[in-house]
Amino acid sequence: MYRTHNCGALRIEDVGKEVTLSGWLQASRDFGGMTFIDLRDRYGITQLVFNAEDNNELAERAQKLGREFVLKVEGRVRERSNKNPNRPTGDIEIEVHTLSILNESKVPPFTIEDDTDGGDDLRMKYRYLDIRRAPVKESLIFRSKLAIETRKYLSEQNFVEVETPVLIKSTPEGARDFVVPSRMNPGQFYALPQSPQTFKQILMVAGMDRYFQIVKCFRDEDLRADRQPEFTQIDCEMAFVTQEEILNTFEGLTKHLFKSMKGIELPDFPRMDYDEAIRLYGSDKPDLRFGMQFVELNDVAKGKDFSVFNNAELIVGICAEGQAETYSNKDIKKLTEWMQRPQIGAKGLVYVKVNADGTFKSSVGKFYDDADLKIWADKFGAKAGDMLLILSGEAEKTRKQLNELRLEMGRRMDLIQEGDFKPLWVIDFPLLEWDEESERFHAMHHPFTSPKKEDVPRMLTGDHETMKSLRADAYDLVINGAEIGGGSIRIHDRALQSRNFDLLGFSKEEALAQFGFLLGAFEYGAPPHGGIAFGFDRLCAVMNGQSSIRDYIAFPKNNQGRDMMIDAPASIDQTQLDELRIDLQKEMSS
Ligand code: AMO
Repeated sequence: MYRTHNCGALRIEDVGKEVTLSGWLQASRDFGGMTFIDLRDRYGITQLVFNAEDNNELAERAQKLGREFVLKVEGRVRERSNKNPNRPTGDIEIEVHTLSILNESKVPPFTIEDDTDGGDDLRMKYRYLDIRRAPVKESLIFRSKLAIETRKYLSEQNFVEVETPVLIKSTPEGARDFVVPSRMNPGQFYALPQSPQTFKQILMVAGMDRYFQIVKCFRDEDLRADRQPEFTQIDCEMAFVTQEEILNTFEGLTKHLFKSMKGIELPDFPRMDYDEAIRLYGSDKPDLRFGMQFVELNDVAKGKDFSVFNNAELIVGICAEGQAETYSNKDIKKLTEWMQRPQIGAKGLVYVKVNADGTFKSSVGKFYDDADLKIWADKFGAKAGDMLLILSGEAEKTRKQLNELRLEMGRRMDLIQEGDFKPLWVIDFPLLEWDEESERFHAMHHPFTSPKKEDVPRMLTGDHETMKSLRADAYDLVINGAEIGGGSIRIHDRALQSRNFDLLGFSKEEALAQFGFLLGAFEYGAPPHGGIAFGFDRLCAVMNGQSSIRDYIAFPKNNQGRDMMIDAPASIDQTQLDELRIDLQKEMSS
């Protein structure tokens, strides 16, 4: 038998028991005739003690053990003289009388402690060692429990988990597909699903009524801390539902997950329409953990000699409370340079400080006197000691830049409290988005999203400009500034779906070739339906206050999309290429 207890189980009540433990050697310390070893497994760490006075041969063997050796020990539980209140097993230790080495270990390339000295790629290459670290291990356990709670809640709500295929034809979610060549159909390719979107809609036509799946999705897009090429969704679809019912169902799921996993009761989620989110925060995923809403100054800042503002489509700013004295001229210069980096691309940054005596100090003081600036300050509700930060330019760009500034000021001013969760629904997204470069409309969510009922007539007959103003029954769940989920009511009418494909620039033939199966299904009694998908990895990270999803994925990829452990992607051998009839020489030269 390898163990009677795990390394996290023993307590003061167990003193005197004979036990057997197995695990990894976390750390070892020698004090004269005494050797202390921390033995670790998934459940915790228990201290072992070897006393040379009792058994010299055993103590000498213990001294020679290396980090990460796999050990089995037998011994007696005794009370520690020097207790460790930070460890659940910290009241006891094991006086070892039998030691077996189950396996040896090379010296690990980084320390296996909560804080490690390993860089990202090194940790990923030796992921099996990284997962031995408590923070990564705990993250994976959290993920497993979150999946169980999700399944519990959704099954209770009558959702059925259905698996959909992974070798499919491209689904248009806006990213590039990963493709897989077919040996049996030379020259043809499967695509890996960007989401099970079309299948879940087909399942509604098939009468499944309520579907969910915790499912892998694949997107060949630029990677970031919150984006992986393969990631997991809690994917859901419901028939005979309104947007209201969907929002309530998934607000219910989110509340259940926070309650069961973190003991947090979330209040009802506020709702904000897309236009308002953009106007007040410059983002469709505002972080509501702090204020600093945007205030527009077009009506009060134009008409003086400051041509930059006079020529701007939008003049807009935020009020950084209490920052007037914190920011010296030098600090403001640095902040301006930060805003001017190519990643943000602001042309400049105007500040107005409200002095203690009610006067103002501003970078545009030449053009605006104190009476003008007072009017601005009043619009922000600014008081003495506050500092206004103002940008101007083309509306969309300026709002995006101010969003970055707001988030940065929120961080600098320490406005974000750990453990604070601020969810919200962003609703009424535009249906279509005009892309200047390709001179085409793109679906803001995806091509199956329904316009708002009241916008349908305008969609069927309106001109180009009208199309830009159409609103969709599309919604996102945002928590703490992260897009956790997105969904929509779908078009279930074949004619409307064809019109949408038209607007998106698909010819009739292209639409049929790509989505004939769905359009076909819609001719056999498609019920009204809608759904949502949560980013499961993101939900795990956000619930734990993390911005990176990597540690919630057992084997993640790096920013170049590489799996550092198995070294993928990799070339394949000529026989495989021949079978697939792929001629790399030809591909490279063409
Ligand atoms: P959407 O494309 O908005 O919707 O995706 C849903 C959620 O999935 C998460 N997500 C990602 N997470 C990690 N890495 C990625 N590369 C990544 N891409 C997306 C986000 C996002 O909100 N079929 C629709 C849903 C529907 O309409 O029902 C869809 O996939 O958290």
